Parts: sequence; C-alpha cells; structure tokens
Amino acid sequence: MSNVESAAIESGLHENRVFPPDAALGARLGGAAIGTLEAYRAEHARSIADPSGYWGEVARSFDWFTPWTSVLEWNLPDAKWFVGGTTNVCHNCVDRQVANGHGGEVAIIWEGEPMPGGVAEVRRFTYADLQRETARFANVLKAQGVKKGDVVTIYMGMVPELAIAVLACARIGAPHSVIFGGFSSSAIVDRVVDARSRVIVTCDGAWRRGSVVPLKANVDAACAELVGGASAIEHVIVVRRCGNDIAWTEGRDRWWHEAAAEAADACPCEPMDSEDMLFLLYTSGSTGKPKGIMHTTGGYMVYTGHTSRVVFNLVPERDHVYWCTADVGWITGHSYILYGILPNRVPSIMYEGAPNHPGPDRFWDIVARHKVTHFYTAPTAIRAFMKWGAEHPQRHDLSSLLVLGTVGEPINPEAWMWYHREIGGERCPVVDTWWQTETGGHMITPLPAATPTVPGSCTLPFFGVDAAIVNEAGEELPANRGGLLAIRGPWPGMLRGIHGDRARFVETYWSRLPGMYLAGDSARRDERGYFWIMGRIDDVINVSGHRLGTMEVESALVSHPSVVEAAVVGMPHEIKGTGIAAFCTLEPHFTPSDELIESLRAHVGAEIGAIAKPDRIRFTDALPKTRSGKIMRRLLRAIACGDESSTQDTTTLEDFSVLAKLRETDES
Ligand code: WT7
Repeated sequence: MSNVESAAIESGLHENRVFPPDAALGARLGGAAIGTLEAYRAEHARSIADPSGYWGEVARSFDWFTPWTSVLEWNLPDAKWFVGGTTNVCHNCVDRQVANGHGGEVAIIWEGEPMPGGVAEVRRFTYADLQRETARFANVLKAQGVKKGDVVTIYMGMVPELAIAVLACARIGAPHSVIFGGFSSSAIVDRVVDARSRVIVTCDGAWRRGSVVPLKANVDAACAELVGGASAIEHVIVVRRCGNDIAWTEGRDRWWHEAAAEAADACPCEPMDSEDMLFLLYTSGSTGKPKGIMHTTGGYMVYTGHTSRVVFNLVPERDHVYWCTADVGWITGHSYILYGILPNRVPSIMYEGAPNHPGPDRFWDIVARHKVTHFYTAPTAIRAFMKWGAEHPQRHDLSSLLVLGTVGEPINPEAWMWYHREIGGERCPVVDTWWQTETGGHMITPLPAATPTVPGSCTLPFFGVDAAIVNEAGEELPANRGGLLAIRGPWPGMLRGIHGDRARFVETYWSRLPGMYLAGDSARRDERGYFWIMGRIDDVINVSGHRLGTMEVESALVSHPSVVEAAVVGMPHEIKGTGIAAFCTLEPHFTPSDELIESLRAHVGAEIGAIAKPDRIRFTDALPKTRSGKIMRRLLRAIACGDESSTQDTTTLEDFSVLAKLRETDES
C-alpha cells in the first residue's frame, strides 16, 4: 500500500454532516449565479464537453481591444487562451468601470493598522481614483525607463500604493513580481536575480502590531548584495508609510510622492496580447530554489473574474462589500483582492494590519463597521479565532455576512463548524476553495447557492475543471481511495511556465501523469464525488496556508555556522495546521542548548522570513539515511508526529542506532 493510500484509510475521516444550500440565499445575494446542484451539474458538463464554447462565452463579458481568433490552442503542456486577442487587465479592472459611468463607485476600501492610541485610518478609492493613480504611477515607472515586458519587483506592506503599483504595472504591460513583505532580503535577492528586475517599489517600513518592519532596509541589504552581480537594481521607489529613518542612495532612490507629483495623471492602457505575461509570483517547490510561476493576461483575467463572480456570487449594486484577509504578496491577494474582484464592481477591502491588533476582535470590528457581506480567510486564522474565543465575534454585529470562504490548507471539520456557527450565524454557506499559485484561481469549490457542503471537503470541480484522483500510472481510482490529485486538460487560469526553467515546468507538473496536470496534493473523492484534500506529496509543507519547501529551510539552517546537516519535516500544529520540525547535526565544537535553538530560529527568520522559523529543533548525532544516503524523511516525520510505534519499514536504514537515539531524546 502506498503512503498516500494508507494515509487516506488511516485518516478515517467520514464526515457526514451535510449543509444543503439555503433556498433564500440567492435572493439575499441579489440573484444566484448558479442556483441549484442540477444547474451546476449541467453547466459543468457543458464546460467540459465544449471548453472553447464555454470560455468563449465567458470571455465576451470582458472588454477586448481586438477579438481573439480561437479560444484555445492546446499542445500539452502549452496552452494559449483567446489566441490573437488583445486586452488589458487594468482596463478591465478600472477604466472599463469608469467608461461605463461607474467612476464614482468605491473600488477599494483600505483600512490601516490602528496607530498607537488612535483610530484606524480608512481610505476609499473609487474607480476614477484608481484610474488616475494607476496612470500617474505608470508614468512614474515609465520615467524610470520601465518598458513593456520589464519585470518590476514590488516589496511592500498592505498599503493602497501596493494595489496601485500592481495595477500600474498591468497598465503598461510590465510584469510585476510581488514579494511578500514578511520575507527577508535574501528572498529579494533570489527573486530579483531570477527575474532580472531592475526596479523595486517598496515602503520605508510596514506596520505590524504597532512596530515597524524595515522594508527599505531589507531592500538596501538586497541591493548591496546585488552590486556587480548578475542583476543590479537601478531604481528604488519608496512609499513613505511609517516615517522611520532610512538610508538613502542618491540617484537610485526616489520617494513615491515626489515622483508621482511630477507625473501626468493620464496614461493609456497598453494593448497586451492575451498570452503576454501579466505577472510572476514565486512559490516554493521541492528544491531550494523558488519557482517563478508565470501568469498571462487574457486567461488569468477571465478565470479570476469568472470564479470571483460565481464562487463568491458577487453582484454589483447590491451593497456587497467583499473582504479577503490575505496579503497581496500571495496569489490569494493577487487573484481575490485585486484582479478577480475589481472587474465585478464590488468594493474590495484591503486591511493593513494583524487580526489581533489592537485586540483579538479586530476583524469583527472591521466586518461590522464596513458591513462586510463576503469574508474570505484561511483555516489557520479560523483556528486562532477559535482559540481566542467566541466572545470576540459575539461582541460585534456580523449580520451583514452572506458568504464565508476559506483557502490555503485543508480545514478541519471542527474549525469549519466553528466558522459556520460563530461567524456565519449558521446562515452563511462556507466555500472551501481548493486551488494553488499555479492554478491562478479556484479549482475545486462549492458554489454558495447550489452546492450542499460537508465540513472538511472542498466539494466539486469548478466549471471547465476536470479533476480526478489517479494512481501513479494515471488511472482513475474508485471512491474513497487516496491518490494523486490531477487535472485533465487545460483551464484559462493555469500557469504558463516557470520563469527561466522550462524543464522544471514540464517535469514538475506535466510529465509524471500521462496527459494530466499533477497538482502535488494527495486527495480522495467520496461516493458523492466530493474531493477531500489530504496533503502534499512533495517536500513542500503548508505552514499557515503558505507553502514552504523543506529544502529552503534546510539550506537556511546549514548556512548557520553550527549546523552540519539538517532535515526538515512537517508536524501537526494546533494553529498553523502544519508546523516545522527540524533535525540538526552540529559541528563538533557546538553543544545543544536553548540559546542555540533560539539563534537557529532567528537565523532562519533572517534568511527566509518569520514564517519559516522551525517550531521545534532537535539535535542528533546523525540523520537516518538509506544506504544510498537519502535522508529518510518518512521516519523523521513519524518521530515529529510523535508516532513512536513506528511500523515504518526500516530495512534500508543504514544505522538503526540513530533512530533509537532520536526517539530517546524525544522522550526527554
Ligand atoms: C496548496 C497551494 C491557493 C492559495 C493559497 C495557497 C493547499 C490550498 C486548499 C484547500 C486543502 C488547500 C494545497 C495546495 N490548499 N487550498 N481549500 N483545501 N488544501 O496557495 O501557496 O500555491 O499552495 O495549498 O496543498 O496544493 P499555494
């Protein structure tokens, strides 16, 4: 029996609480996009039978400068969508709304982190504001020599200028590469080199629970490392947010507000080929080097816009207020704060701060004040809310809520039930959306007015998505057998490649299963046809809904002078879902200590970012290895999970004493 299968059977998760859709929800939403399970099934069948017909129809609801000549050209693994068509994503998010007379409506509601002792700042941007500001910043970028096709690196906090910078890039056809503000300067170096980017947009600092994250200093450190290297940063544009002291390099650094003040506030949207790159977004994989996932213009625009409309059931002019709590530094923020939401003409909230600052009811205060109707967050956040206690949401009026969403990792049924009860007041459907950086948008998800939900299952494939559970040979498995989650055939939001690494693109996603996309997740499908995601099959762990390569954390650990060798595995964690367990062997003249553990954690934080800090570090004389020298992660995983009865096959283990030692220290 394979790992995957045994996990499925051991999980023994047979959840049978079913929550049928509320027949009255469609009316409350201002009309259901899809109102019944039968309607879903009919439309899904049609979308699979005739993808070109289906997506052609969907794409016609967007503005195109020139029409496409064919909807899809598919030569595995290369898909071209809306071939020959030209459009501009910023136009469809912003300018189109203005042109249609909606310039005065609110597009983005930005809420700042509350200042010490003060109230939070709220800024509202209408579509007309966004048009003017994106045009202005597009002109700033042009003045720095940025041309169509040049990659602009963005490393910012959750300030409105982040949205403006992203959309301004789309406006002029300069692909952006947004780096999450929680990453360290080495993450900037790697990504800037890979993307050959010469321009960085950043902030002096970012607020995080009342203290300042020194973004500009991190950029300076990255620039210092880049001097004379493969890539050099020529321009750094700096938003003043925190007013913290920063170093300044004359000729390279420019204040955003000064540059913008000189720039004209009109700039046409560049006509982009449907397959021109819209952005690069780096994500972790099995090797130490992050993958630059490439998304293009037409397919991504249509896919994120359409999934936003159908999965969240967004309807303009029905007082919808949508809030996704993700950071724009992740794909969730790209697709479901900005690109998918703006074309739907529903205001999107962007919140700068943390969920528990100044108090653990911060989110519920925002929901109540802005009368949020759609709320989209991650299981890790829900588990934290549970821990903080239901009294916090109970203090606020959450009756505006209509639809709840989750994303990022499997949601445990207990957290699902709490979310449904305490946040949704048992009135709101929970859409558990399975997707990935690579997929661009939702792939397996309930539709709020149509799909009966079952806590813990992401339910059924979205339109145009032919998902299956297969074995290593690509054969579909019967119900409830754990296997590999695969997608048969292309969809408009799919990645078009890994930047600069064609071989890795083909190898990772398209070569292991015949004719299918390999998602990298294990899953099962129940007798109802509902999907249950079990976990990753590669050396990637999903910490708080963020993907981290175990190799990346291992390289960070061994770059510390005390560590000779390190192995990193996932372990269950109450809040994060998966935590990080590290096993390290030390240089002989270092001795294990709590101080050393802390300095290793700090080191990983500095190398990658706080999210990568191991939750547990154990020291060992040697790591368990096979005869060929491969670290036996399976065994380490069992130890990290506290599975002492390990029935795991150890016949290839070279040195049994290592394993016995690790177990002993675990008991101490
Ligand atoms: C991986 C993708 C998609 C945006 C956030 C993460 C896991 C994602 C779910 C879900 C179970 C999920 C998968 C996937 N995942 N959503 N609803 N249920 N697992 O994006 O960093 O690209 O990670 O997140 O393991 O492969 P990402």
